[in-house]
This record gives sequence, structure tokens and C-alpha cells, in this order.
Amino acid sequence: MTAPLIVLFAALVVFIYLLVVDEAAQVLSERAGIPFNEERSRWTRGLVLAVIGGLVLVIALPKDLFEPPPPTVASYTADSLWLGPDTLQLAYLDDEREALVRYGRELVHNTSAYFGPKGSVAPLTNGMDCENCHLDAGTKPWGNNYGAVWSTYPKFRERSGAVETAAKRVNDCFERSLNGTALDTASHEMKAILAYMEWLGSGIKPKQKPKGSGIVELAFLDRPADTTNGAAIYTAKCVSCHQADGQGAFTASGTAYQYPPLWGAHSYNIGAGLYRLSRFAGYVKANMPQGATWENPLLSDEEAWDVAAYINSRQRPDRDLSKDWPKVAGKPVDHPFGPYADSFPEIQHKFGPFGPIAEARKTSKP
Ligand code: HEC
Ligand code: HEC
Repeated sequence: MTAPLIVLFAALVVFIYLLVVDEAAQVLSERAGIPFNEERSRWTRGLVLAVIGGLVLVIALPKDLFEPPPPTVASYTADSLWLGPDTLQLAYLDDEREALVRYGRELVHNTSAYFGPKGSVAPLTNGMDCENCHLDAGTKPWGNNYGAVWSTYPKFRERSGAVETAAKRVNDCFERSLNGTALDTASHEMKAILAYMEWLGSGIKPKQKPKGSGIVELAFLDRPADTTNGAAIYTAKCVSCHQADGQGAFTASGTAYQYPPLWGAHSYNIGAGLYRLSRFAGYVKANMPQGATWENPLLSDEEAWDVAAYINSRQRPDRDLSKDWPKVAGKPVDHPFGPYADSFPEIQHKFGPFGPIAEARKTSKP
């Protein structure tokens, strides 16, 4: 805005200068008896006036007339971290869609109010919020976010041995991470959660996984993860919020968690993603203790693996896993229950070292 103002000021100075000089030239030429070229002076004055008029228009007209409208969908470059679309962009949806997406976001944020033991829609879950594990409503880089959900589902998953829709995947978390009951896929609430996922995925091409989506992969330790060391880390770095008994703490209302539980009856069950050591370690490395980020972690890799081993060796709800991993060879190296397609013992699949298992798989592949 300052550049046109400077030009405008300069044009005004030139205009006044021309007036004065013309006046003087006219007087001088009249005195000397030389004819004064009034035509030319009128033209130059006209020209300068036109410039001034143009500039005033530029300054007075609404600025956005000259700027392209903001994009209605987010776009991502392959090498920048996915942060989720700005909620301001919700304004580009029609009212009904906007309300649905906002409701979906609210369900992810305050899950317990709707589906917890005293939930207003139905008491389906253990009282945790999706957001306890999918941070910032599923938008934090490496915060187990939903950046790749809409672009990659439906997809084949080894755990079920079938092509899963996004709704089925959401229900996996209801049944495992929230140790609860699946949500009716035709319900308004499921539609809202999916609308929110779809909106989060706007601007991401099919099959594309934006950088920073999901959980970070840590390098394997070359020793088994150590529960004794993990217990010490828990006491030093986790206990202040998640409590000595691992049960977390409620907010003043008594229905939502201020600090969610890490084990025991109200935590995720043995079929949940976090029960795999690599998922837990990757999640805490980039996110815990609260305040940690991928750029500024507060745990070393070793601490993350060891505290994962400690927490996942505590008691938690059971689940019948007999239908999981129908193809035994498709089990991840850190699935803690046999049978396995290799000869490594179950304890090594639980605590590691996982490197030799991964290595053996590579060489045994035809
Ligand atoms: C106790 C932690 C926890 C809670 C609570 C939780 N999830 Fe998850 N969720 C996970 C983990 C762990 C994964 C798997 C991440 C991986 O394997 O990389 C996951 C994966 C997902 C995925 C698939 C992501 C992808 O990119 O493939 C969706 C969708 C999802 N969760 C939705 C939900 C919804 C909706 C809720 C609430 C109703 C919820 N989750 C509650 C831990 C949790
Ligand atoms: C300053 C408080 C604080 C500390 C310290 C802390 N956490 Fe958390 N933790 C939280 C909060 C709050 C959440 C839920 C985040 C949300 O809802 O946005 C959480 C969520 C989690 C979750 C996912 C939800 C669940 O309950 O399963 C895990 C796992 C976890 N923390 C592990 C740890 C570990 C391991 C440590 C120690 C290395 C730790 N936390 C230290 C506050 C803390």
C-alpha cells in the first residue's frame, strides 16, 4: 500500500511544479512576445492528472479486487509437514456440510461426552476421547493424525485380512482403543466423523500420505526393551499426570479425562494399535510428556521403547484376537501374540530386539 502512496505524492508534487512552471513560462513568453504553447502544457497536465486519478482508484478500491481469492481447499507440497486444513476454510462448505464436519470434529474432541459411560448419544466406550491419542483433533504432525485417512481408505489391511472402509477403521478404534462397541455405520454420528475425515483430507490426492501423518517409525533397539528401566522413566516423566496407578485423572466435571489412563480397566485393550511396542514408542517419542513434538522430543529413542515395554506389560482389558491376522505371515514383527510364520519366540515379538526378525523376513521372502 505504501508504494502507490509514494507515487501519488510524487505525482502531486510534479503536478504542482508543472502548474508553477507553466504559469512562469506563460508570463515570461508573453513579456518576450514569443507565443506560448498552451496545447502542450494542457496535455502534460492532463497526463499527470490521469496518473493521479488512476492511483487514487488503486488505493480506494477494495484490495481483494487485485488478489486471487484464497483457495477453497488446502493444498500440500510433498516435503512440508501436514498440519490439517485451517478451520477458517470450513466457511467454504455449504451450511449443512459445515455443521456435519463441525459435529464430527466435536465427536473426536469430546468423545466421552457423547459415547463415554455417561454419554449423551450412547454409552459405547471406556470414556477416553479420540483426541487423547489423535492429538489436536487428529491434525498434529506425527501426533497419530488423520492426514492419510481419506486418501488411503478403503484399503487392504492384514489385521482383518480384508479391504476396510474408513468407517470400519473408525470402528476398530471404538472396539479396541476405546475398548467399546462399534458405532452404527448408518448413524448421524458416523457420518459426521467421516465427513470430518473427508474434510481433513481435502487437497490430498488418492494414495498420497502427507509428511507427518500417523505415527513416526523409530529405529529398532539392538536389545530387548527393558521394563525395569521403563518403570524408572515412568516415575520420572509420566507419573505426574498419568498417576502412580496409571489410571490418569478426570477433569472437574468427572466425566472427561484431564489425563487419560495408560493401563487398567479403562484403558485400550490388547487388540489396540498402542499395544504394539513400535506404535506406542513412536507415539510417545513425538508427543509425550505432554508438550513434546516431533521437532522437540523429550524422550530418547531408548526411553521411548523402554517406557512402552513397561506400560504394555501392565494389566489391561482382554479381547478375542482369534480372527485377527488371518494370514500369519502378515503379522508385524511386534505383534505380541503367536502363532508366527518364523521361529522367534513370542517374548521377542513382544519386547524385541525386532531387527533380527525383520532381517530374517527380508531374506526368507522369495
Ligand atoms: C488409545 C489410543 C486411541 C484412541 C482413544 C483412538 N485411537 Fe484411533 N488409532 C490409534 C492407533 C494407535 C492407530 C494406528 C496408528 C498406526 O498404526 O500407525 C489408530 C488409527 C486410527 C485410524 C486409521 C488411521 C490411518 O491413517 O490409517 C482412524 C481412522 C482412527 N484411528 C480413528 C479413531 C477415532 C474416530 C477414534 C475415536 C472414536 C479413535 N481413533 C480413538 C489409537 C487410538
Ligand atoms: C504434563 C502431563 C503429561 C505428562 C507428564 C505425560 N502425559 Fe501422556 N498424556 C497427557 C495428556 C493430557 C494426554 C491426552 C492428550 C489430549 O487429549 O490432547 C496424554 C496422552 C497419552 C497417551 C495416549 C492416551 C492413552 O491414555 O493411552 C499415552 C500413551 C501417553 N500419554 C503416554 C505418556 C508417557 C509414556 C509419558 C511419560 C514419558 C507421558 N504420557 C507423560 C499428559 C501427560
